[in-house]
Amino acid sequence: MTALTVAIDGSAGSGKSSVSRGVAARLGMRYLDTGAMYRAFTLWLLRNDIDVADVPAVVAHLEGPDIVTTTDPEAPAVALATEDVSLEIRSPAVTAAVSAVSAIPQVRRRLVELQRQAVRDALASGRGIIVEGRDIGTVVLPDADVKVFLMADPAVRAQRRAAEDTARGQQVGVAETQADLARRDAADSDRTVSPLTQADDAVVVDATYADLESVIATVQALVVERSR
Ligand code: DC
Repeated sequence: MTALTVAIDGSAGSGKSSVSRGVAARLGMRYLDTGAMYRAFTLWLLRNDIDVADVPAVVAHLEGPDIVTTTDPEAPAVALATEDVSLEIRSPAVTAAVSAVSAIPQVRRRLVELQRQAVRDALASGRGIIVEGRDIGTVVLPDADVKVFLMADPAVRAQRRAAEDTARGQQVGVAETQADLARRDAADSDRTVSPLTQADDAVVVDATYADLESVIATVQALVVERSR
């Protein structure tokens, strides 16, 4: 089981991060949040006053930021060089800009390279890895041992995401959160490069009526089953 690769895809707020971290922690696997990498790159662009709508300008700075991610499910973090930006990448400014950045093919190519490197590093250390995002089962790891597509009703996703934001000290209403998730879902699903799509061989897990514990248990069982 330890050397397996697991792809978990799904839309914003579907619970991918909590489920992926939970399963990885229980099975002694590594964990990679690819959305955090798109967010870290977006934060770097905003800080450097680079217009995210100016594609040539963004592409000219692909090598600008040094994006460093940890793959410990107990302490996931993303840094720009040595500065931990794990909290700042969740700011409304980054959330509003990240879909535009992640729609740029050259950005995706660059970050997919880093993602695959993280997977190679985990496997080289004898550990399996759970990678979560939008295109993991289709593009990043098409040969993943287990593929899960996580779904949840939009209203439920908005409630959960608003509660998470509140816990982080960001007060955004549920209605506003739901509108934002719908906007990002549309942008992430309609883009031409690597849109959010369910891989043909993914297992669909509906988290609408299930609590976190039972979704973790479902995915954990899929991984354990595959390891036999
Ligand atoms: O999972 P998240 O909401 O933190 O991801 C932030 C954005 O990054 C999301 O709007 C879509 C994009 N993303 C992507 O295009 N591909 C991935 N593999 C992961 C995230």
